[in-house]
Amino acid sequence: MTEKKNKVLLVYSGGLDTSVCIPLMREDYKYQEVITVTVDVGQERSDIEQAAEKAKILKTQHYTIDAKDEFVTEHCWRALKANGDYQGYPMSTSLARPLIAKVAAEKAKELGITSFAHGCTGKGNDQYRIEFALRTLIPGALIHAPVREQNMTRSWEIEYAQKNGVPIQQSLNKIWSIDENLWGRSIEGGRLEEPDFAPPEEIFQWTKSIEQTPEQGLKIHLQFENGAPVAWNGESIDPTKMVLKMNEVAGLHGIGRLDLMEDRMMGLKVRENYECPAATVFLKAHRALENLVLTRDEIRFKALVDSEWSRLAYEGLWWDPLKTNLESFIDSTQTRVEGEVILKLHKGNVTVLGRKSKWALYSEDLASFDTKTFDQRESTGAVKNFGLQARMLHHLLQTQRKDPS
Ligand code: ARG
Repeated sequence: MTEKKNKVLLVYSGGLDTSVCIPLMREDYKYQEVITVTVDVGQERSDIEQAAEKAKILKTQHYTIDAKDEFVTEHCWRALKANGDYQGYPMSTSLARPLIAKVAAEKAKELGITSFAHGCTGKGNDQYRIEFALRTLIPGALIHAPVREQNMTRSWEIEYAQKNGVPIQQSLNKIWSIDENLWGRSIEGGRLEEPDFAPPEEIFQWTKSIEQTPEQGLKIHLQFENGAPVAWNGESIDPTKMVLKMNEVAGLHGIGRLDLMEDRMMGLKVRENYECPAATVFLKAHRALENLVLTRDEIRFKALVDSEWSRLAYEGLWWDPLKTNLESFIDSTQTRVEGEVILKLHKGNVTVLGRKSKWALYSEDLASFDTKTFDQRESTGAVKNFGLQARMLHHLLQTQRKDPS
């Protein structure tokens, strides 16, 4: 008989993949003790509770760790400052994975564990994100990914679970594969894998269909400081509550549904459905404020920085030095992203009604049709010489075509 190994920490959500990992770690991987860690980043309360109940039935040493506040301030707000976006996706799952792995690594250190397991498949992005984080934080980590290593299918997992006393009734009822956190909810699987199959209404839980949204829109005032929202209609709200409240209110108005074709890190194209009500509103408001306070050159250059930051975030390279470098630039722009944005939420749309900031680079006196502070006559020379070289070449091409010598 193979010698029994000591302890393994399983990054555990309570879903089918991670649940079958518990007996597998004991039977196949020969660990004596399985420690399960569920990190609360704002997924449904009942999922967290069910995960804990299953862990109890399967006799693991189980921890539920609340990381919601850190998730919002260190991950969601970071993404907001970078206008975080990958192919139209606010990156909710991507942003949470490094934190989930970090919290698990901290628990492992505390318990003196260096072996890990996770339930990621070999097709997705999460395996990269979680393993990069664990290996960065615990360089000697031994990481098992049974679903990937054993090329498992869902039906194999169900059969294995039934044989090994893993409660799976919840999983059997679930047609869709769902991942949730405060920045968004992703829905995959089933017939959604057919890109021409229209998402059925039942997949949506955070957002109303347009038909069911109120006829009356809602006007809100959001106050920003340092590129992040701090108050709603003049009332200060702490970051986690701010996101929770916005998910609820914007969801009621049908905001934040996304149906995307997404290019995964592997190169696979996949069809993804998301509900990201709060992220959609905050990203729109943030951009409106940036456009008021940043210079034209800052806006142009920051778009490049933002897209590079987003690529790193999508790939889960949370501890990449380039990410830190880019954040230095981003942070230096955000000190001026302060002020108020007025928005209207109505029938699936967020409209910016107004914006103001003490850092506004806008002067009504200069821009207005009714003032003379900006002397239009002085523009004559600048306009006359505009595009000089292009005009010269255009002329050359025309005259040379006429006169081939
Ligand atoms: N495609 C998205 C991403 O890579 C969402 C993945 C959802 N993950 C999941 N395990 N259901 O970030």
